[in-house]
Amino acid sequence: MTATSPASRPGSRPITAPDIVAAKGGEPLVMVTAYDAPSARVVDGAGVDMILVGDTLAMVVLGYDDTLKVTTEDMAHHVGAVARTKPRALIVGDLPWMSYHVSREETVRNAAALIRAGAGAVKLEGGRKRIDAISAILDTEIPVMGHLGLTPQSIHAIGGFKVQGKQLDAARRIVDDAVALAEAGCFGIVLECVPDGVARMVTDAVDVPTIGIGAGRHCDGQVLVYHDLLGFEDRMRPRFVRRYAELGAVATDAVARFAADVRAGSFPSSEETYHMTDQLEGAIDMGPIDLVGDGASDPTPATPSQLSEA
Ligand code: KIV
Repeated sequence: MTATSPASRPGSRPITAPDIVAAKGGEPLVMVTAYDAPSARVVDGAGVDMILVGDTLAMVVLGYDDTLKVTTEDMAHHVGAVARTKPRALIVGDLPWMSYHVSREETVRNAAALIRAGAGAVKLEGGRKRIDAISAILDTEIPVMGHLGLTPQSIHAIGGFKVQGKQLDAARRIVDDAVALAEAGCFGIVLECVPDGVARMVTDAVDVPTIGIGAGRHCDGQVLVYHDLLGFEDRMRPRFVRRYAELGAVATDAVARFAADVRAGSFPSSEETYHMTDQLEGAIDMGPIDLVGDGASDPTPATPSQLSEA
């Protein structure tokens, strides 16, 4: 029998990195990104296993063209917003570019900032050359998730958002990197934009879950970006994105209807308005009233219509 994924099990205990490792080979794991309290409530309410506060924050929330512009402070700010909703799902905080490239000390300090903000694990990009950074973080008892294939923080080095591992050598390197990450102690590995055969080789080669995005079905789980899944993001539409709603269009239509109602004078209605009591209206008719609340009567009596316009 296939074991159920952590979030499908009854109970409300928060999901941990060891729960994710134990789910290898069972019911597929579900991870979705979120960057603030409302999106965290949506994805946790939907029963995902992991919430990734990804550095895609830069592109889908902050309006940049790539992920290189966000800092550890930006990431911690958004991890904090997600964490304050107290989700059941494991919060994975993405370490941004240059937060784990300089020294072990800086790496550990930056990983700790995301944990202090409320993450239960961190994620970083890269294979064998990141083993030192990974072991430094693991030494401080912080679970680490790896990320291989298309690693957007290397966009300039790899020459664009392109599928990785199409050639035999490159495919072998990805498998070799995945084995190194698993042996170093990563509790899971994101595989982004690789052919499904490569994802299958990696999934078979490691004893921790692989989480695919544009990596086909032979992974232990799947991740999508919140704004792609819900139809809020139109600037890029890779083939692996399945859109489950068109909420961007729904939101634009709703705001356009609000604007039309305001311009037509049909918003707000009487039901959407606070009215004075009959007693107060009567008192106003009788003489001066303290409109500003400073205890002194205002010199000129106000009419009820002047008050409702104030
Ligand atoms: O930052 C992110 O959202 C990610 C996903 C694309 C896996 O790393």
